[in-house]
Amino acid sequence: MELVPSIELIREAYEKSYAIPSFCVWTSETIDLVLRTAEKLNAPVMLMAGPGEFLWHRPQQLLEMAKILGRDRRCRVAFHLDHGDSLELAEECIQAGFTSVMLDYSARSYEDNVAGMKKVAAMARPDGITVEGEIGHVGKANKNAAEGKGDSSLTEPETAERFCRETGIDMVAVSIGNAHGNYAKLPHFDFALLEALKKRLSIPLVLHGGSGTPPDDIHRAISLGIAKINVATEFITAIKNAYLVVWQGDVWVPSTLPAAMEAGEQVLEKWIRLAGCAGTVK
Ligand code: 13P
Repeated sequence: MELVPSIELIREAYEKSYAIPSFCVWTSETIDLVLRTAEKLNAPVMLMAGPGEFLWHRPQQLLEMAKILGRDRRCRVAFHLDHGDSLELAEECIQAGFTSVMLDYSARSYEDNVAGMKKVAAMARPDGITVEGEIGHVGKANKNAAEGKGDSSLTEPETAERFCRETGIDMVAVSIGNAHGNYAKLPHFDFALLEALKKRLSIPLVLHGGSGTPPDDIHRAISLGIAKINVATEFITAIKNAYLVVWQGDVWVPSTLPAAMEAGEQVLEKWIRLAGCAGTVK
């Protein structure tokens, strides 16, 4: 396994019009599954974890697991802090050797967001670690609100340009009608907005809330500058649903792992193909 600076994978994808799927991982088996699938499909991928995943293992432990499990695998991967919620966590991940970090202050004021991102960029830069910021806010898919509205706010092109210039970040997460979690109804991406963002911003764009997005929207988003797509809910749900079937009665829990991993693998394969990165690792 080659642990690659995140921006190297993302830039290549951006220039060649495909995207890198970034998959949520939280245990050795989910890490292993992403690495196996990446190797099987000759696909560059990102593994990502954030506050919701560090409930048992610390960042350093997850990264070391990836290094051990990937030792004999032929794959190119990056390891990313997703939705970092404090400077301390960003620092912990930088020190652990993550290849990129996101600080998500997108729900705070513009000034707080810029100040936080500048601090993270200053910590990350000396080690060549890639930095992701978010401007506008990608909220949660919510059945009570139009998707991408609710607690979301769309990314405004002029503000986004200023944000990228002032912070010096390497990639930027945008809010164009996308949302995290299970969409209650299909999302409506504002492609005119995405096009305007692509024109104004010179860095790769990131799509959060990949789960549940129709394939045509993914292809169009990639053609308009999306070079990293975050996927969590679909992966986690497939594993959960498989466990719900096999965790019945007097089950020997370890014996249920293969069924859960097979279900998860199908989601990983789907997203690697959808992102267009299968076969790009030569
Ligand atoms: P989904 O859970 O909707 O796939 O979103 C994942 C994500 O954006 C994590 O940052």
